[in-house]
Amino acid sequence: VPPRDLEGVRVVVSAGGTREPLDPVRYLGNRSSGKQGYALARIAAQRGAEVTMVAAHTVALPPPAGVHEVHVSTARQLGEAVRSAAAGADVVVMAAAVADFRPATTAEAKIKKSDDTPDPTITLDRNPDILAGLVRDRRPGQVVVGFAAETGDASGSVLDHARAKLRRKGCDLLVVNAVGEGRAFETEDNAGWLLRADGAERPIPLGSKSQLAIAVWDAVAELRAR
Ligand code: C5P
Repeated sequence: VPPRDLEGVRVVVSAGGTREPLDPVRYLGNRSSGKQGYALARIAAQRGAEVTMVAAHTVALPPPAGVHEVHVSTARQLGEAVRSAAAGADVVVMAAAVADFRPATTAEAKIKKSDDTPDPTITLDRNPDILAGLVRDRRPGQVVVGFAAETGDASGSVLDHARAKLRRKGCDLLVVNAVGEGRAFETEDNAGWLLRADGAERPIPLGSKSQLAIAVWDAVAELRAR
């Protein structure tokens, strides 16, 4: 049986991937399944938390038991829903894959191809960083958790990039997934690291998304107990 160590704790979890519309039938999206966010919401509720889950687009998933669900589509909608729920929350976990950019304009009618006009170009505007905003407006004692999907490259390892992101975003906890080659997105399993703002680092062994969720809530409960 799960521990009841989050009894009465008010939690917000974002899940899934946003869609940024180009016209009434097309969008820019991403491969997030929503499974990690749903697992986080479900396990927090099992541990006694009062959970609001703000979900963008996901594959078909069973609703997590005992969780209040808010469904959104775009990054800006997700931002508004998370911000308003966060105003009364003790913990906010940003597991959603939020689009960094949206089409600068959304056509009112379906964009058509034509032999007489040049092919269209998509201009992008930057979406606000929701996580950074949450950190900025954080209530006293509120714990803010971010996710980072990282690949290693010539300029540094997955962990180097993740440590820099933790500092840049200013959250209390960063859950790092190594991505690429079939890892993390569209899979059942996740592995990575938990990085804490105070410098504590812990590997998360390869396991199910539920196991990763358990590790995240363990770390949150530990932070709240300090
Ligand atoms: O910078 P990057 O997109 O890798 O950061 C990932 C983290 O930031 C995730 O927790 C994600 O939910 C959040 N994020 C956000 N708003 C954005 C982009 C990402 O809150 N516009």
